[in-house]
Amino acid sequence: MINTSKLTKKFGDFTAVDKLGLDVAKGEVFGLLGPNGAGKTTTISMLITLVEPTSGTATVNGFDIVTQKSDVRKSIGIVFQEPSVDDLLTGRENLEMHAKLYCMPREIRKKRIREALELVELTERADSFVKTYSGGMRRRLELARGLLHRPKVMFLDEPTLGLDPQTREHIWMFIRKLNKEEKMTILLTTHYMEEADTLCDRIGVIDSGKIRVLGTPKELKRAIGGDTVVIRKKGFDRKKLRGLSFVKSIAQNGSETILGVQDAHSNLQKLLARIGPIDSVEVREASLTDVFLKYTGKKFRDEGEDGGEGGWGNRVMHQSNVRG
Ligand SMILES: Nc1ncnc2c1ncn2[C@@H]1O[C@H](COP(=O)(O)OP(=O)(O)O)[C@@H](O)[C@H]1O
Ligand SMILES: [Mg+2]
Repeated sequence: MINTSKLTKKFGDFTAVDKLGLDVAKGEVFGLLGPNGAGKTTTISMLITLVEPTSGTATVNGFDIVTQKSDVRKSIGIVFQEPSVDDLLTGRENLEMHAKLYCMPREIRKKRIREALELVELTERADSFVKTYSGGMRRRLELARGLLHRPKVMFLDEPTLGLDPQTREHIWMFIRKLNKEEKMTILLTTHYMEEADTLCDRIGVIDSGKIRVLGTPKELKRAIGGDTVVIRKKGFDRKKLRGLSFVKSIAQNGSETILGVQDAHSNLQKLLARIGPIDSVEVREASLTDVFLKYTGKKFRDEGEDGGEGGWGNRVMHQSNVRG
């Protein structure tokens, strides 16, 4: 449904998107995961024909994004980073306006609007002004609007940016519903690890305009070679770990021994049996944050911009967990 080849966008000398290659299959939820400034919005802008690439090519639903713009536009729905519903209209009026833009006949319009409102659970508030809506309700209205014309592909640019965790999970549920019930292919961007992990069939980690690694969340986590097991035990003797092939690394941090362990879940029993009595043990399974660290070598880059929102700041929490 989406195919890009060496897709590139330069702004002057600066390369925002650098020879991007992507293949998104029909029915897939694909996530572009990366920090602020990685090139996510620029990539989407090219795919939805708002911005022309500097070089490279891409097709959406089989149509070329440069030479077949209007066919691309008919194939897609968009929910953009910047809110774009009209405050001074009601929810229903916003949808009416959009449906008219797409020249939908009146009967179909009414029906689709009713269905879309149902899907995002806004039926009861449909006739209130949007200015009285919460952030989550607005986002849901945008989702409803994006799917009115039954697009084959939905583009969601940071669909839960700035929403509280509960509302975020609510939006995830609707996105999944769209994917399952409407069989919609979805490309979303996010800088929230958890969002990419729970929502996406496949993820491309993007940084400085380049895809660094690509795969299912499981594959990516497995590929970084394992989990972390932190053991507290006075007088830990590392000789005891000899011959355990699933122990990949050993590091000492004060009274803690930090082990890199392959598949800690199944190997923990064996490991503890070897070591004998301990004071405490903590297992941290590999996370997408670790994946990002490995493939970009970057740590706290966005901490200041987005700390504490469950995004890149998460790393800080993981680190202090490890260190106790
Ligand atoms: N119109 C533009 N002119 C110049 N630079 C731009 C423009 N749009 C985006 N950029 C730059 O391109 C980079 C990628 O931006 P963007 O695609 O918005 O990243 P993301 O959505 O991942 O945060 C950023 O460094 C941004 O400043
Ligand atoms: Mg963006």
